[in-house]
Amino acid sequence: MAELVIAGAGPQALSLACLLLQKRPRWRQRLRILDPSGGWMNRWHRQMQRLEIACLRSPSPHHPHPNPDALRRFAQQRQRSRELEEPYGLPHTALFGAFCHTVVEDFQLAGQVQPVSVEEIHLDADRRPGSLRLGLSDGSRIQARRLVIATGPGEPALPTWVQRITGAYPAEALQHSHAIDLAACRGLQGQHILLVGGGLTSAHLALGAIRRGARVSLLCRGELRSKLFDADPGWLGPKHLKAFRLEPCWQRRRQQVLEARGGGSITPQLAMALRQERERGRLQIHEHCEVREARWCGRQWALDCSDGSRLEVNRIWLATGHRLGVSHQLLLRQLHRQRPIELVEDWPVLRGDLRWPGTNVHLMGGLAALQLGPAARNLFGGREAAQRISRAAIKA
Ligand SMILES: Cc1cc2nc3c(=O)[nH]c(=O)nc-3n(C[C@H](O)[C@H](O)[C@H](O)COP(=O)(O)OP(=O)(O)OC[C@H]3O[C@@H](n4cnc5c(N)ncnc54)[C@H](O)[C@@H]3O)c2cc1C
Ligand SMILES: NC(=O)c1ccc[n+]([C@@H]2O[C@H](COP(=O)([O-])OP(=O)(O)OC[C@H]3O[C@@H](n4cnc5c(N)ncnc54)[C@H](OP(=O)(O)O)[C@@H]3O)[C@@H](O)[C@H]2O)c1
Repeated sequence: MAELVIAGAGPQALSLACLLLQKRPRWRQRLRILDPSGGWMNRWHRQMQRLEIACLRSPSPHHPHPNPDALRRFAQQRQRSRELEEPYGLPHTALFGAFCHTVVEDFQLAGQVQPVSVEEIHLDADRRPGSLRLGLSDGSRIQARRLVIATGPGEPALPTWVQRITGAYPAEALQHSHAIDLAACRGLQGQHILLVGGGLTSAHLALGAIRRGARVSLLCRGELRSKLFDADPGWLGPKHLKAFRLEPCWQRRRQQVLEARGGGSITPQLAMALRQERERGRLQIHEHCEVREARWCGRQWALDCSDGSRLEVNRIWLATGHRLGVSHQLLLRQLHRQRPIELVEDWPVLRGDLRWPGTNVHLMGGLAALQLGPAARNLFGGREAAQRISRAAIKA
């Protein structure tokens, strides 16, 4: 029986694996990490590459190594400090990638990721209390004493008008950002692309399409907001988190998380790049505007929008993020059927150690937000979650 199984090998899972091994080196034998990609942080590296992102949004202390200073030290030792954009030390993507590679090597975690996904969870009450039976994508089953679900953001969010489209259209005519690889997009020159969403993914895709000769219309259902980080930096320390953790009402905590993020936002740097493209006539920004109806007319889309305008575009790219909720994740739906818990509008009320109450299953990522606050899904959240879960695992 594996003592601890981690489903997922993204940055959040790596934060936990490193912290556990730092605290208890002998746990190496008891740890099993499963991810269909078969390696560490493959989805992360791919998403940065697909969207051609040169620099992270989060500051230098946010990364998977247990020591927050480790990235800055790594950069100094290799004379790469210029790749930390001051004043916050935002790491360049290449530096961050090289650093994480070294972290994996230093903790001897290379080659430790088994290329399978967890597809079934069974709470195995007949055996040791709390033990679990997991069904894997290769058809095998394993027993685990404890499971950590660190499988990332869940299902892509698709606007309701997408489900109302009737008739066939080419796959590349309508795509969600998770499936778009800018370098692999052919024939963008001269095309008109509709980008839906006011987050940073939307901005990167808009600029990537424009670099390839496309004209872009960017549709935001609210305002296009410019902020350095997803939420005020006060949410990365006691300034806001102290009061948040004392808030007894889960509904109010959810509201605070939503208000702190305030929906999607873009950095001032990308806001400026978008403004320049708008001035050059290659970008139109429609705020407070949503698509009402989309029809594929053989070569292009005809779109009716909520502000009464009509648009004709060749492709639609949805940069609408992901659906955060128990009902949008297969493993969590299974868990909830077997051990129902309190949900606040589909967000789970977890214990302080991020455990699904009554089980030995812990969650990392955005669904830990009622405990961790608005940065739960970011690298910062991974560090916080790793501390709470490792403490619980070691104590048990
Ligand atoms: C383009 C982009 C840029 C971002 N930049 C930043 C940034 O600069 N700073 C920041 O703090 N945050 C950033 N984020 C948020 C970011 O997603 C997270 O910080 C980070 O990727 C979350 O890590 P994770 O380990 O939770 O998820 P992921 O990186 O998504 O990793 C989850 C892993 O789980 C695996 N998996 C899925 N299902 C299963 C299963 N059933 N069984 C086993 N394995 C499974 C997947 O294959 C994947 O490898 C960015 C997000 C995007 C989309
Ligand atoms: N390092 C980087 O450079 C980088 C790059 C990309 C992303 N990121 C990070 O990754 C995370 C995710 O970013 P993201 O941009 O992918 O997602 P996001 O921040 O969740 O933004 C999604 C956007 O889509 C909009 N949206 C959602 N559903 C919609 C619908 N049905 N109709 C119309 N609009 C809809 C949202 O509108 P509302 O605003 O109204 O909610 C929001 O503007 C963030 O933490 C971000 O900072 C970082």
